Amino acid sequence: RRTQLVSKGFLLFSYRVDLQDSIKPRKVEFRSLNFNNTLHWQPGTAREARDTVYFVQYKIASFLLFLHRYGQSTWQNKPDCWGIQNHVCDLTNETSDIQEPYYGRVKAASAGVYSSWSLSCRFTPWRETVIGPPTLAVVHSSKSIILKLQAPRSPYKRKRGSKIPMTNYYDLLYQVFVINNLLDKQHKVLVYEGKHKVIKIEDLRPGVSYCIMAKTYVPMLDRSSAYSSKHCTMLQ
Ligand SMILES: *[C@@H]1O[C@H](CO)[C@@H](O)[C@H](O)[C@H]1NC(C)=O
Ligand SMILES: *[C@@H]1O[C@H](CO)[C@@H](O)[C@H](O)[C@H]1NC(C)=O
Repeated sequence: RRTQLVSKGFLLFSYRVDLQDSIKPRKVEFRSLNFNNTLHWQPGTAREARDTVYFVQYKIASFLLFLHRYGQSTWQNKPDCWGIQNHVCDLTNETSDIQEPYYGRVKAASAGVYSSWSLSCRFTPWRETVIGPPTLAVVHSSKSIILKLQAPRSPYKRKRGSKIPMTNYYDLLYQVFVINNLLDKQHKVLVYEGKHKVIKIEDLRPGVSYCIMAKTYVPMLDRSSAYSSKHCTMLQ
């Protein structure tokens, strides 16, 4: 009788340990577009039960503080991502010192059992954010095309409420490309690289349809964005 009780206890214990491991979130990672910084994860190896919820913490991992032996900074709860069913948590506001490295971590709970924490890689917004393409507007086109470019905006706001553009954080250049229907579709011609927001493209032929796209380029990181959407126009 006694052995039976002991083994039942053991089974219960090992069930809990298995559950703890199998609900532990996987692939915890930051994703970042124009400093919109979100933590993403995948459910554990177990089929996700309907009652599974997740808890998110973050901390700043200041290397200097660490060096000076002030100890590591402490983990902070993210109240909006405490007991949530989503697999994503917006940490934009919590990671706004863009030069600082951060960590995020997630744990899961299901049927009253909590997993251990799953840790993200170190994330430094300034180094890792993906900079989006500029927005492009064709202002005028007759013999030439006049374009207006606008840098992507970060989620961070000025005191008066306008969103701070990415040009505030990086030395950004615009690249403007032209495709025309006389050329091979894949052939994009770089017609401008620089900081101007209003560009005039000249020496174009009437009766030809031109399509224009743009990218942002950061020389310092040698990184360019995806292409903006395509604007096509037929010249008179
Ligand atoms: C970020 O902070 C702003 C201002 O404090 C607030 O309005 C907004 O809801 C916050 N967003 C998130 C995702 O926490
Ligand atoms: C970040 O992007 C998501 C998805 O586009 C959006 O819902 C969220 O509001 C953004 N966060 C901030 C703080 O702007």
